[in-house]
Amino acid sequence: MTTLLKSVLFVLLILSISFPTESLGNDIDTQFSRSINFMMSNMIRQDAAPGSVIAAPSRQHPDYFYFWVRDGALVMESAMDLYQSGRLTSLQKQKLQKFFLDHIMFTQTTQQNALKAAGLGEPKFFVDGRVYSGPWGRPQNDGPALRASSLIRLLSIAIRENWPQLEEMKKILYRANSAEASLIKFDLEYTAKRWHDLNVDLWEEVYGAHFYTLMTQRKALALGSQVAQAFGDPFAAKYYLQEFYRVTQELNRFWDPSRGYIYATLSGRKNISSKSATLGKSLNKSQLDSAVILAVIHSDIGEGLFTFTDDRVLSTFQKVVDSFTALYPINQNNQVAAAIGRYPEDTYDGYQTNSVGNAWVLITAGAAEYLYRTASQLALAPSIRISQANISFYSKTAGLENLSVGKVILRGSDDYNRVLQNLMIQADRYLARVMLHANPDGSLSEQINRRTGIQQGAPNLSWSHAGLITAKLARDRALSNAMVKGSRGKK
Ligand code: NOJ
Ligand code: NOJ
Repeated sequence: MTTLLKSVLFVLLILSISFPTESLGNDIDTQFSRSINFMMSNMIRQDAAPGSVIAAPSRQHPDYFYFWVRDGALVMESAMDLYQSGRLTSLQKQKLQKFFLDHIMFTQTTQQNALKAAGLGEPKFFVDGRVYSGPWGRPQNDGPALRASSLIRLLSIAIRENWPQLEEMKKILYRANSAEASLIKFDLEYTAKRWHDLNVDLWEEVYGAHFYTLMTQRKALALGSQVAQAFGDPFAAKYYLQEFYRVTQELNRFWDPSRGYIYATLSGRKNISSKSATLGKSLNKSQLDSAVILAVIHSDIGEGLFTFTDDRVLSTFQKVVDSFTALYPINQNNQVAAAIGRYPEDTYDGYQTNSVGNAWVLITAGAAEYLYRTASQLALAPSIRISQANISFYSKTAGLENLSVGKVILRGSDDYNRVLQNLMIQADRYLARVMLHANPDGSLSEQINRRTGIQQGAPNLSWSHAGLITAKLARDRALSNAMVKGSRGKK
């Protein structure tokens, strides 16, 4: 045998040990590069202002040819994940860097235009940066928070890489003592002062206080406090931190231990600080909503509360999965994981609001991302303690048998390794679900029809591709973690 052949066989052997279930094979790499191309073609185009992101290319049925603040910020996060992943060609990196700089200028335009309209919570703009002034659910206060967090991250990348434009960027993005506020500080002040205001949720349907929105605000205030400190603005730093704690306290009210899940929305309260939360009668929803899972993956700040492995989050994840598994006919195929939608009572079919809801690509990919990141986090934890709240997650999703409340599973034990391994397998099965229904060319719409499995709603939704990309990169990060990887060697 030649040495070359030997070393090839050796590599193959290693691979087969570390990856007992290569269910995804190369398909995920193919989908990944296609999604990068689709996403980038929604970011860099002749028919939109530089730095703008179209939600989707369709101008009718449905018309998604707009810039949404939320979608834009989440695309920015996904693009920054890519930028930092080492997975791009240098041409792609260059294009993204140019886009990031353009995006700062575009944000300056949209912020200024928003001030002349309903304020920084304006959710939707024409692709040239003018406010969309037709009737719409406004304000949506997750927007300024997501925008602030993404710009803070961009600033920190520019600092780390010492971009030539850095000084200019700093002036535009964060100035401590300037009457004319800077982009990040603008959004932080708005968030710190206005987080208790009721507003419209990320699905643009419900007026109330929302777990998703508050989580994005909490993250912005945490990052904001750090950036203020670093930019010589200590009073602001203190103020943002104080509001961060208040938002955190508020978030705790969304957990309902008797139902075993975190509510998406609380409303109908006269006084936000009153202890007893009353659900708005008008909501007519179970309040079980994938927005809670998205909140966790979009707003993680690497500390215990409402992070991936928080019992309340694990429990909510399982309830969401159980409800959609039963609800959508396509989920009778259980070769792959369940396709997940927004909330069980959803009636938006991607075109009309008075119809039946479907599975969503960005949410099903979000379920995968949630599990990859949960596995990565567990790989660092000393142990798992089985509780009333997490027992169904650890038995159903993590596949452990003979569990009882109070049982402690130590890191390094067979059971612990089994959890890590099964979470990775489950996560892969969510990505396999997305790929099962993707169009042959890898294009992804907003939704997956709950009966036929066919793509539906806005075609090539930027957020669908952004979600697939962040999930895939979370997978790469989990697999580069020795502990998670090791667990996959054992059957
Ligand atoms: C109704 C949907 O339910 C909502 O989520 C969407 O944003 C709007 N229509 C606009 O498409
Ligand atoms: C409908 C979604 O509900 C909303 O979150 C999103 O911003 C818009 N579509 C645009 O993609």
